[in-house]
Amino acid sequence: MSNKSFLIKTFGCQMNDRDSEIMGQLLSEDGYIETSETDQADLIILNTCSIRAKAEQKVMSLLGVLRKHKKRNPKLIICVAGCVAQQEGQELIRRMPHVNLVVGTQNIYHIVQLINSLGKHEVATTLVDNYSIPAFIPNLKQHNVGGEPEIFRKFLTIMQGCNNYCSYCVVPFTRGREVSRSVSHIIEEAKSLIKGGVKEITLLGQNVNSYGQTNSVTEPAVPYSFAELLRAVAKIDGLKRLRFTTSNPKDLSDDLMSCFAEIDILCPQFHLPVQSGSNAILTAMHRRYTRELYLEKVTALRKYCPEIALTTDVIVGFPGETDADFEDTMSLLEEVQYHGSYSFKYSDRPGTRSADFENKVDEKIKSERLARFQKRQDEIGLAYNRGYVGKTIPVMIERNEFDKMVGRAETNHLVHFTDLSSCTVAGDIIDATVTHAGQHSLQGKLPGKD
Ligand code: SAH
Ligand code: SF4
Ligand code: F3S
Repeated sequence: MSNKSFLIKTFGCQMNDRDSEIMGQLLSEDGYIETSETDQADLIILNTCSIRAKAEQKVMSLLGVLRKHKKRNPKLIICVAGCVAQQEGQELIRRMPHVNLVVGTQNIYHIVQLINSLGKHEVATTLVDNYSIPAFIPNLKQHNVGGEPEIFRKFLTIMQGCNNYCSYCVVPFTRGREVSRSVSHIIEEAKSLIKGGVKEITLLGQNVNSYGQTNSVTEPAVPYSFAELLRAVAKIDGLKRLRFTTSNPKDLSDDLMSCFAEIDILCPQFHLPVQSGSNAILTAMHRRYTRELYLEKVTALRKYCPEIALTTDVIVGFPGETDADFEDTMSLLEEVQYHGSYSFKYSDRPGTRSADFENKVDEKIKSERLARFQKRQDEIGLAYNRGYVGKTIPVMIERNEFDKMVGRAETNHLVHFTDLSSCTVAGDIIDATVTHAGQHSLQGKLPGKD
């Protein structure tokens, strides 16, 4: 048992958010106390992301700052976890000798043992194929890392890793081979979250659509498709909202799409990363679907759920992307009309195939393409948001304190309230009439109020 304090700083995607919570809970159970003050922490964990060069640079510069803290407090333990840790391993300690512990993505469950038996340095970055994700019973009181008040809204990891090897992506190297968790572990974890007051669960994986299809070498494949898993989770008593992310379009089944027509609590929101509208670029990216197939899936999805809010990820300036290829991405944006998107300039990542491709696109052209894409996406997104004005929609309250009430629509829009409801607590679902639309959020009032 320890009475030391820890601070976890999380970068990257929701998988890292969830991993930070798990590390936080394990440390709390060992007696560690969470702090938000860098100066007070005995242990600082950076849970890192290496998806683009910029994400990695952020970690490196924060590590530079922490070097000074360590000089003032030599007993401070600095730990790097997550995708940069996995990728860099020993090299990280060579470059940053003030780092004490490097913990890979499959090793987070051993965080307490690693810290308690730490010498000067330790690197724990084993990444194996026959990996099974341990059962984990969340303790909501303890794992709320970052002091987030939203205990009614949680992520649940259903699979680790990725087998797709898109040519630009580090994830298969940082998270390993794709492994699906057992259905019983997932249901058990979901039940325990709901028992603790959670009302909304987001199922997480890099490619949830292939859940159950691939498994570790030693474990049999899970005899469940993702659609079946969704149905099973949706049946748990007390769950009010269900979401999932992320999906690779190539594995999007009709059965999964039909869930949107069938499961009441499945929120009408779908993140379906397209990356590019050009078939030549999609091939070079090794995405294994065509623009035409993608558009067919979008049409089918909207048949099952006409009001679905579609979002996507786009990479501009992939090696070899011509003006014509980029125009294909712009025309796809016009055809699909996304509610929103995340768009990025292509970034070379170590170990990926595209890092060795020729015909790299000039940074200036990448910036121009990104700005053009984002400007048009902003217009389309704002037009969608304006379409909600005057409508009454269910909103789950996230925060209701002092003079602020904020909630979330089923479509994932944040809704800021202009009036307050004194009898509403976080986690309640109330009807709100949308009064105003911003670029990234809506404004609402309680129905019947002026
Ligand atoms: N599993 C998800 C993506 C996870 S990474 C999927 O397959 O869709 C999140 C996003 O980061 C990707 O969708 C992609 O748009 C972007 N990304 C990944 N690698 C990148 C790179 N090397 N350069 C720029 N963007 C990248
Ligand atoms: Fe990366 Fe592709 Fe796997 Fe997504 S599907 S995590 S982009 S390799
Ligand atoms: Fe980043 Fe790793 Fe997630 S690279 S996006 S934290 S899987």
